[in-house]
Amino acid sequence: MGKITIAIDGFSSTGKSTVAKQLADWLGYVFVDSGAMYRAVTLYAMRKGHISTTVFNKRKLEECLDEISLSFKKENSSSKAEMYLNGENVEREIRLMTVSELVSSVATISSVRVKLVEQQQQMGEGKGVVMDGRDIGTVVFPGAELKIFMNASADKRARRRYDELIAHGDNVTYTEVLENVRERDHIDTTREDSPLVKAGDAIEIDNSEMNLEDQFHIILQLAKDRIAGRL
Ligand code: DC
Repeated sequence: MGKITIAIDGFSSTGKSTVAKQLADWLGYVFVDSGAMYRAVTLYAMRKGHISTTVFNKRKLEECLDEISLSFKKENSSSKAEMYLNGENVEREIRLMTVSELVSSVATISSVRVKLVEQQQQMGEGKGVVMDGRDIGTVVFPGAELKIFMNASADKRARRRYDELIAHGDNVTYTEVLENVRERDHIDTTREDSPLVKAGDAIEIDNSEMNLEDQFHIILQLAKDRIAGRL
């Protein structure tokens, strides 16, 4: 059966990556977490001292883009492809709050987006890919056969992200996480280049009151229908 391209966009912490990965595993497709790429660029610029909570040197950040090589690799112990920055596994570090606090600003920079979108398009060339992000259905793969737009209340999203961070031993408060979720929503939806918007042909799913299993089955059925050419 022919393979399709699946784009999963939406607000931060709506569980896009979780469902995208489940779907890719079930279908035997490649899963790409595009947000991880923006996070890795952010981490690199932080390490170089180009950005921090008090500094934002856009020019320096743009100048160092050519030094950044990104790839996804599967570790033996994990079923998920993890993010590598210049050959180093940074999967854990890119999820820290320090990175979350700066990543949305980095994602407003057009030269960063051009570099990452090009790489994302190459990864999806042969179809059979499930990619999650903010602009996948609108910019990266406007011709994707299935587009999902995920949403949930800010409170539910912050609660889920908070639980995750605490489980990983991160030292954060719920209020900090909620503020970060709101701040990122604002930056992601109001930036000039490729803002987060629902593509006209995307199907919106609000999972505030949905469990992971129900959500997966709804999206899997949509994918099966698209693969069979039924919808
Ligand atoms: O999905 P995430 O929370 O890991 O994404 C981190 C940030 O990266 C998010 O605030 C916006 C940005 N992003 C983007 O602009 N475009 C994408 N395709 C994916 C993420």
